[in-house]
Amino acid sequence: MNAKKTKKIVVLATGGTIAGLASDAARPHHYSAAQVGVADLLQGQAFEGVELLSEQVAQIDSKDMSFAIWQNLLGRVAHWLAHEDVQGVVITHGTDTLEETAYFLQTVLQPIKPVALTCAMLPANARDSDGPGNLKDALAWVQQPDATGVAVVCASHVHAGLGIQKSHSHQRNPFTSQVNVVHPAHLAVPSVAKVLVCQQWPRVELVFNHVGADGRHVRSLMAHDAPQGWVVAGTGNGTLHHQLEAALLDAHKQGVFVLRASRCAQGGVQSRVADVLPHAGSLTAVQARVALQLHLMAQST
Ligand code: SIN
Repeated sequence: MNAKKTKKIVVLATGGTIAGLASDAARPHHYSAAQVGVADLLQGQAFEGVELLSEQVAQIDSKDMSFAIWQNLLGRVAHWLAHEDVQGVVITHGTDTLEETAYFLQTVLQPIKPVALTCAMLPANARDSDGPGNLKDALAWVQQPDATGVAVVCASHVHAGLGIQKSHSHQRNPFTSQVNVVHPAHLAVPSVAKVLVCQQWPRVELVFNHVGADGRHVRSLMAHDAPQGWVVAGTGNGTLHHQLEAALLDAHKQGVFVLRASRCAQGGVQSRVADVLPHAGSLTAVQARVALQLHLMAQST
């Protein structure tokens, strides 16, 4: 008789409010993120026939997420997914930059096995902390037979990793997501190996269109400390104030990649016949910035 195999799920912790502590549990909004270690987060989380493995990849407030931590995280996710007996990976992460990490991991790894990012809006010692429930839901989701790719599990919702956006600053359910978001076909994606060895990530600056956007800081940076790329969060369908547009067209003529996104939360930018500056499709501006960094990395020798 075959013994039933134990499934393994790996939990990679990076910090965030889910690992946060309030100095007074009755005032949970006054807290420090990234205080509780992964072993303590996993207290009370158990599933029959499942072995939980864990690693503390980082311990940060996700506003401080860095490319070095992304590389480390990518390496650990790739490492564990390659194990036949690992069914999936759960990543605990702060909510603030989670949409960028989710986009980055899905785009570079495109995993067949499930990878769930989860989080919390209340610290671990708040009386009604949402962290344990979100973690339980994420651990359950990666065990679903049809679960695949990078997803975000939060507040009883499962969002596709590419389409997610933090759209509320303090609700328990801070995320919304668009469906059918795809990485723009004109932007290349580097291999996992190339990302892991990259020493100097391409510098891409983000600029917004707004009333009176005169492009002065684009011109100033181009003159003194030019980045390798610009993402512009345009108005509506990626439109730009004529002065900002002139500054970005000059940057484009100088060989700097300029990518147009929209500052609207939904819909992105649809192409028009006379477009000179390429657009980022349905990506949000912060995701477009990651996409352009990856493209420039893929093109580099
Ligand atoms: C963070 O992003 O690390 C802090 C905020 C949060 O997790 O909600």
